[in-house]
Amino acid sequence: TEFETILLERKGGSEGKGGVGWITLNRPKALNALNAQVLDDVIAALDELDRDDSIGAVVITGSDKAFAAGADIKEMAPKSYMDMFLADYFARWDRLGNFRKPTIAAVSGYALGGGCELAMLCDILIAADTAKFGQPEIKLGVIPGIGGSQRLTRAIGKAKAMDLILTGRNMGAEEAERAGLVSRIVPADQLLDTALETATTIASMSLPVAMIAKEAVNRSFETTLGEGLLFERRVFHSLFATDDQKEGMAAFVEKRTPNFTNS
Ligand code: HXC
Repeated sequence: TEFETILLERKGGSEGKGGVGWITLNRPKALNALNAQVLDDVIAALDELDRDDSIGAVVITGSDKAFAAGADIKEMAPKSYMDMFLADYFARWDRLGNFRKPTIAAVSGYALGGGCELAMLCDILIAADTAKFGQPEIKLGVIPGIGGSQRLTRAIGKAKAMDLILTGRNMGAEEAERAGLVSRIVPADQLLDTALETATTIASMSLPVAMIAKEAVNRSFETTLGEGLLFERRVFHSLFATDDQKEGMAAFVEKRTPNFTNS
């Protein structure tokens, strides 16, 4: 499908599985600012990739200069309280947070405001050494609106989240990795290759098992340790009803590569 503000590609995979869905934000003149059209396009692409059984992981990336420089300030500027309330502005980004297949944000350049929040909605965040993260909303007279005050705080703790959200300053890739926001930093010219390699590795696993692993990790943000451990154990036991558990363990014993069938 063709989209106005993003590019959607499929990479790799064979025999109807193991492929990677690749979404490139593509509003270069606005540094990929996230307007309503970008949201519509990303959601439509995710719906398509969700339905596509050949896709085992999804990468979201931007340009060298900007992953995304935030929500579209020009679009938001004239809105009233009722406009924002009635449209439940930004709520539809939950689609990405609730997306069930594994997602990777590959971030180069600016990931500010909604751009940082979009990256945090993904499961793994791979940063180029040029990446700059921040929640500068306070400089615009507002606060983060796509989860920044909650997800950034859970990711990097109160000390740094307060520092960033109250001053609006940016942090570079090194600081972001030290703080725990970023999974890995790579030289900028290796960002896309690393993201593809990582996504391909994940897509080579059993898709339902990868989806369940993601669900288990995300559970830890929603519940107590005891309930989380119980959830993990129940789900772990349930995997022994799958063909892919039998295949994965048989392949290890037989010293060969497993051929997962997503069943
Ligand atoms: C709309 C944007 C934009 C944005 C950049 N542009 N960011 N348009 N919304 N968030 C546009 C500029 O207006 C400009 O268009 C073009 O992109 C290039 O940007 P420049 O500023 O000329 O580039 P540069 O000088 O390199 O500076 C890059 C930058 C700066 C530091 C990233 O663009 C910047 O500070 N942007 C805003 C970052 C920000 O505040 N983000 C948070 C948004 S609020 P023209 O047409 O002039 O050439 C948010 C959540 C809000 O995300 C939640 C509350 C409800």
